[in-house]
Amino acid sequence: MTNEKLHIIPHNHQITIDDRRKQQGQNSFAIWFTGLSGSGKSTLANALELALFEQGYRTFILDGDNIRSGLNKDLDFSEASRRENIRRIGEVAKLLVHSGTIVLSAFISPFKAERELVKGLVGAENYLEVFVNCPLEECEKRDVKGLYAKARAGEISNFTGISSPFEEPVSPDVKVPTHQLSIEEGVAKIMEEISAKLKY
Ligand code: ADX
Repeated sequence: MTNEKLHIIPHNHQITIDDRRKQQGQNSFAIWFTGLSGSGKSTLANALELALFEQGYRTFILDGDNIRSGLNKDLDFSEASRRENIRRIGEVAKLLVHSGTIVLSAFISPFKAERELVKGLVGAENYLEVFVNCPLEECEKRDVKGLYAKARAGEISNFTGISSPFEEPVSPDVKVPTHQLSIEEGVAKIMEEISAKLKY
């Protein structure tokens, strides 16, 4: 059903995104981590958030634990659900960016189309893509959650990298090969990329 049919007419609020940024003296944008399960997205996002928080920035992390167990608990790992997962997270990221917050999002986000959708939702100038490009072999070797073994044994279907595709980003803003860099080095690499756009 279209919005027209539902009689939804967006209200233009008086306080703009720029008013909020100015009040806080900080910019707001989304740092979108993408990569295989076990590549280190959440670890990096957490370490980066800590560094930003300590410098006084207002930040918020969106990741599997706080989204898939709440807002998106009705979604599974079918292709359609994963697309819907990222679409909803993109909408949440947009709201947070409009609230003046630096958003760090850590989901596999395996499909290019939904990453592009998110970029459009938050605005290209407010979207920074971080490809946590740890190879499948290494993620599988780590197997922190024991899920790759289960996927190989056929106990988990549609597992990214094994029985469900991961479309690699073609031109991410930052690549963090976590099999070659320490967490500190990875955070420093992202910091270098965002340092010019933190203040407002
Ligand atoms: S996404 O593909 O929809 O972006 P999301 O980041 O939310 O995935 O969730 C991925 C996490 O869910 C993985 O890190 C893993 O812990 C868990 N998981 C459970 N089933 C699967 C599966 N079939 N494929 C990948 N990850 C899965």
